[in-house]
Amino acid sequence: MIKVITDCTERRNIARKILEGLTEWFEVPENRETLIEESASLPFFASYADDVPVGFLCLKETSSDTVDIAVTGVLKEHHRSGIGRSLVEAAKDFAIKKGYSFLQVKTVREGMYKDYDKTNAFYKSVGFKKLEVFEQIWDEKNPCQIYIMSLKTALSTIAARHSYRGAFSTDAVPEEDLKTIARAGLEAPSGCNKQTTSLIIVNNQETLTKIKKAIDPPVAKTAPSMIVVLSQRINAYRDRCFAVQDYSAAIENMLLAIVELGYQSCWYEGHITDEDRICDKIA
Ligand SMILES: Cc1cc2nc3c(=O)[nH]c(=O)nc-3n(C[C@H](O)[C@H](O)[C@H](O)COP(=O)(O)O)c2cc1C
Repeated sequence: MIKVITDCTERRNIARKILEGLTEWFEVPENRETLIEESASLPFFASYADDVPVGFLCLKETSSDTVDIAVTGVLKEHHRSGIGRSLVEAAKDFAIKKGYSFLQVKTVREGMYKDYDKTNAFYKSVGFKKLEVFEQIWDEKNPCQIYIMSLKTALSTIAARHSYRGAFSTDAVPEEDLKTIARAGLEAPSGCNKQTTSLIIVNNQETLTKIKKAIDPPVAKTAPSMIVVLSQRINAYRDRCFAVQDYSAAIENMLLAIVELGYQSCWYEGHITDEDRICDKIA
């Protein structure tokens, strides 16, 4: 079971208990003390077995895009039981929610010591990739291997998407971003490649106001731009038309691109294509 620890004394006590049980990795007492002290002030995740802490991990921001696993350890008797993996998963979830793009960790390069080879194997098994080795950062007996993991994956983008119905900022969305979003929409698959979907980017305030006026009850009143989706009923083969599937795929692609670029969005279709045909008034 993973818990987020917020109390500094508790963090310090847990870090001490674990690191003092792992002297093969945390050999030098002064370095250990520095890490224990540092851990007390960082976002801290602890793993428990029978209500007793058996592992921990803490995170430190190294740039606005990257967060580093500053210290982590799992007591030896609990190795190979999934604890390290769940600590990394908890750290990843936290970092994704905070909007970081990369998770980083440093260890001694493989091929130097048996115990650190296991650490390298563990980091690779949870998805870290080798970034670079710095021979001199620590000392020549301990070349520093930096591992990195991208947090902006297709799956994390899918998980982060949700419909936004709040107020929007008054900042305009740059046209380049709107074009990137629309391009993602047009790159969606379409039945028999009939490409039945067309898109209109609307960021001209006068046109936006006219469109918003036509929508009753109103939606997205403060949205600084919209992408209007048009669909043509072209048969793919015989009497089969996939226009609805086509524009749905296009919209989902756009919603995901919008998340990746850091914006909010909502798919509005409900009453727009309903019997009162607001879509016709917009057209
Ligand atoms: C075909 C379709 C039509 C939708 N129309 C509307 C709509 O008119 N108004 C609205 O507020 N949300 C609309 N949505 C958004 C859904 O309400 C929303 O996706 C759903 O509640 C799940 O929430 P989530 O998107 O945050 O995961 C639509 C979604 C789809 C797929």
